[in-house]
Amino acid sequence: MNLIIINGPNLNLLGKREPEIYGKETFGDYFEQLKGLYPDISLTYFQSNSEGALIDKIHEVGFSIDGIVLNAGAYTHTSLAIADAISGISSPVVEVHISNVHKRESIRHKTFVGPVAVGTIAGFGLDSYRLAIEALLKR
Ligand code: DQA
Repeated sequence: MNLIIINGPNLNLLGKREPEIYGKETFGDYFEQLKGLYPDISLTYFQSNSEGALIDKIHEVGFSIDGIVLNAGAYTHTSLAIADAISGISSPVVEVHISNVHKRESIRHKTFVGPVAVGTIAGFGLDSYRLAIEALLKR
């Protein structure tokens, strides 16, 4: 089983960025714990602040990998191009958000990723990523 977590813009700042919303843990620390929970899965991680780099990564892995856990950050709410990239690949994508975007500003209620993802997990803090992995493992 090969899975990838792809994080979009500003998620490199986890641990420092708005900790009251996103928590105090860095993604690096969390990712090490996740790998420990799933020793039999090949789990990789990619982050970019650039829309094009995210699309390139989705294209690169999207015909061979067993699943993509995608937190597209703010591009979730704006990027038809990322949605088109997901529509164009064969690997399943689970949309993830750390915060409950539906409880936040109305601009965060719109998601371009949701309609092309197999499902969405939002609002469980960093545990949202683990829940997405569980969802992919059960498919
Ligand atoms: C986020 C929610 C988005 O609205 C925001 O732009 C992010 C993070 C989340 O994980 O809660 O960057 O995707």
